[in-house]
Amino acid sequence: MTKILVTGGAGYVGSHACKALAAAGYEPVVFDNLCAGHDWAVKWGVLEVGDLLDRERINEVVAAHKPAGAIHFASLAYVGESVTDPGKYWRNNVTGAINLCDALAAAETDAIVFSSSCTVYGLTKAPFINEAEPVAPINPYGNTKRAIEIMLADYEVANGMRNTVLRYFNAAGCDADCEIGEVHDPETHLIPLAIAAATGDRECLKIFGTDYPTADGTCVRDYVHVTDLANAHVRAVGRMLDGGKSDIFNLGAGAGYSVREVIDAVGRVVGIPVDVIDDARRAGDPARLVANISHAQQSLGWQPEHSSLDNIVSTAWNWYRAHTVAAQGA
Ligand code: UD1
Repeated sequence: MTKILVTGGAGYVGSHACKALAAAGYEPVVFDNLCAGHDWAVKWGVLEVGDLLDRERINEVVAAHKPAGAIHFASLAYVGESVTDPGKYWRNNVTGAINLCDALAAAETDAIVFSSSCTVYGLTKAPFINEAEPVAPINPYGNTKRAIEIMLADYEVANGMRNTVLRYFNAAGCDADCEIGEVHDPETHLIPLAIAAATGDRECLKIFGTDYPTADGTCVRDYVHVTDLANAHVRAVGRMLDGGKSDIFNLGAGAGYSVREVIDAVGRVVGIPVDVIDDARRAGDPARLVANISHAQQSLGWQPEHSSLDNIVSTAWNWYRAHTVAAQGA
């Protein structure tokens, strides 16, 4: 079987990608330091515990497995923390990516898929963002993602290592079989927080900003199901292994929902209205971020087929119940 190195494969999007890779006949090799990932989420392929800042360890794992390609998820991803501790983000995200690329280059692995983010577009005003939109990140997390995108182009020139940059919009939802799901500590994402507020596991949900220039005054985001993201990675890997050129793809559902619309969907699916308080804007939140996904649809033959808002929220709710019950029983 063709081995694919998956850094961060014990994390939320990474573990869903491993499931999709295995279903497509690849053998994922997970490299993860378990600082945010979970060993129980590695169900497809081996887990090599290691930190990308440990050059010897990543060199050893790449040399031992000789993967045909790599998907690089491993990254710190709390926007707020990146503002207060930029060094932590630059060191971990950028130095980690350098060490990974050096290890891949030494092993002559010439294909990498990189998890980037819509955050690279900063405060864009484009109603539907395509990949040609100027990039201008507004926080250190986004700066590290952009820096790695630029760096990958340099590795291609020097080493012939082709790259596919996937810019995710808001990853959400969980595996339909509930084998894996979203578990962050701390949790900062809207949908799991809204579910916890509906069930009473949290007191109430703060809405960050109600005076944005949007239809109901709250921020609009493009929520894409994590299983759709996972499937896009499989297509990106296949394209790279077939000799595809370096490219950049936005991955979203291509539709925007406001914070209030998401909260209403959670109330509907859970069957209990979410208790909310209107709060101040959170620093660094653009009013609207919605993808134009035609490039991924045309060039990867990909469709966000699981990404209706109700399916995203239903699968997140199923996982929340399964995981909370399991955690309480433990
Ligand atoms: C952010 C990044 C995204 C990154 C992700 C990583 C930006 C613009 N987006 O997503 O690139 O990959 O983090 O984790 O930097 N909200 C509330 N109350 C809450 C929580 C959230 O109102 O308690 C609102 C937010 O203001 C936002 C929306 O819900 O408008 C979604 O927030 P969240 O789930 O945190 O994701 P992003 O911040 O959009």
